[in-house]
Amino acid sequence: MCGIVGYIGDQNTSEILVNGLKRLEYRGYDSAGLALINGKLDIIKGKGKVASLEKKLKKQSIEGWLGIAHTRWATHGEPNDINSHPHLSQSGKIAVVHNGIIENYNSLKKQLASKGRTFQSETDTEVLTQLIEEIHENGNAPDFEGALQLALKQVVGTYGIAVINLDEPGRIYVARKGSPLLLGIGENEMFIASDASPIVEHTKKVVYLEDGEMAVVTKNDYQVKTIDDVDLTKEIHELALSLDAIEKAGYPHFMLKEIFEQPRSVADCLRGRIRTDSHTIQLGGLVDVMDRLVEARRIVIAACGTSWHSGLVGEYMFEELAKLPVEVEYASEFRYRDPLIGEDDVLLVISQSGETADTLAALREAKKKGALVLGICNVVGSTIARETDAGVYTHAGPEIGVASTKAFTAQVVVLAMIAIALGQRRGVLEDEYAGRLIDELNRLPDKIDKILEQSEVIKKMAKLFTYAPNFLYLGRSYNFPVALEGALKLKEISYIHAEGYPAAEMKHGPIALIDEMMPVVVIAATDHTNDKMISNIEEVKARKGRIVSVTNDENHEVKELSEFFISIPSTEDCFSPLLTVIPLQLLSYYIAVNRGCNVDQPRNLAKSVTVE
Ligand code: M6R
Repeated sequence: MCGIVGYIGDQNTSEILVNGLKRLEYRGYDSAGLALINGKLDIIKGKGKVASLEKKLKKQSIEGWLGIAHTRWATHGEPNDINSHPHLSQSGKIAVVHNGIIENYNSLKKQLASKGRTFQSETDTEVLTQLIEEIHENGNAPDFEGALQLALKQVVGTYGIAVINLDEPGRIYVARKGSPLLLGIGENEMFIASDASPIVEHTKKVVYLEDGEMAVVTKNDYQVKTIDDVDLTKEIHELALSLDAIEKAGYPHFMLKEIFEQPRSVADCLRGRIRTDSHTIQLGGLVDVMDRLVEARRIVIAACGTSWHSGLVGEYMFEELAKLPVEVEYASEFRYRDPLIGEDDVLLVISQSGETADTLAALREAKKKGALVLGICNVVGSTIARETDAGVYTHAGPEIGVASTKAFTAQVVVLAMIAIALGQRRGVLEDEYAGRLIDELNRLPDKIDKILEQSEVIKKMAKLFTYAPNFLYLGRSYNFPVALEGALKLKEISYIHAEGYPAAEMKHGPIALIDEMMPVVVIAATDHTNDKMISNIEEVKARKGRIVSVTNDENHEVKELSEFFISIPSTEDCFSPLLTVIPLQLLSYYIAVNRGCNVDQPRNLAKSVTVE
């Protein structure tokens, strides 16, 4: 959730750190700070975005040959100057930046206070900093590295940390448990970061740390070991990420860029995986587990947020196309209820970031119980991608906007490909239908393009609804998850209260909310539920609700009943979410922009939720 960056080398350290923080700001943005060593240990930090840190640095320039920096998403203690990272030990010699949560920080704090330590902040991170120093000063460990190891063993919870010590001015220590960290290897310089985005412009060579590992990093070298002091030899990975992919390319926001990237990201996701001549699907990542998948008793899908919504679409697809029973679980609920899952089951986790703490915990729980664990991830090399037995990458490219857009459509495309392949292997999907679906998958990028061409119409429509206090989204069948997704998109970036419902459920409660102030977004683009949706529209209109519909080009009946409509090309019902979601993403985006909201960095949210 927070972002860490570190540097040791001959370049301008504070500039590298601040630029790195800018790339990481999508992970957390309530405060930012950095610490540098140059004969002394200097810290500049405070509430606010990286831009305010940059301003402070202009007034009070500090330089150093190594440094660590942090952009924060508050867990313990409100966002203010004191609670910002880095945190200093009592002597002022040790500085720490930390992602994650130290769960036993309260009891550790009491113990440390009884030994005379005083605390400036309300954070768990300061407690860890003081603990390291306490162990070091009391001689309970042979050296500073040993003190760090002992401290980490006393900690319950999760961490990705970077630590510097004025007495060892050529080293940065890092450690990981539950919060990602990687090292970037340069020429006479080393980088540290919580994801690859700040590193990619400097080097493509990276080493991923695993849970329970730490590293001692110097300008020309690094040594990775366990926190039990066992030396490790780590594989060096080559980053595939490009710098262009993490810049705005002329768009005012990453979210808009990512919405408009969808024709390409869907095509990238399909590339090399579908054969239109033989009407087959080849998913390299699943080849080794396909037999077990075909024999599975059921599939359980676990995910959070938007990824959970794509999982719901997957449920409809797997049941229709592969005739396999599916349950879709919130990852956070799944892991805490001793789930009944075993060797005959498959757990499929879906995660854009591949780092979501609850999804990761669900994966580990199912693995412990013997289930085959598969993943659909966007971030290559992420923890979930590495810990699953097998999986499929979405190849949507980096998603920086906090609101997930292109990751959703790519996840749905992957789910469709798995469902079709599975249906074919299980002999339950008719050849003619499978062929039609595979041909249609190829046409989807162009169809998405056609919808994006209507962005100006959606922009105008958004003006009329900018100050609506509430929104209701209704969908049926494949478009019920899209109703949930449309509502989530609107609330997270515009702060308008919005609810998504299966259209038929409206009569069981939400209908009481409908009056002339209530925009009701109806997603009426699946053929077999069209008549029923028309009845629901009539029910809304009878109560003076304002109908905005997303419907097929030729669905004149729905268009006539709507105050506003967005027309989308027809497709197979099961692919409908891939088209209907696009206007809803744009509608939320334009409404949020009209309301002056920070679309890419909505309040209280972070891009990857690495704490439980
Ligand atoms: O990285 P993940 O896909 O695991 O993230 C899951 C959710 O946190 C994420 O989809 C969140 O709901 C987005 N902000 C939605 O736009």
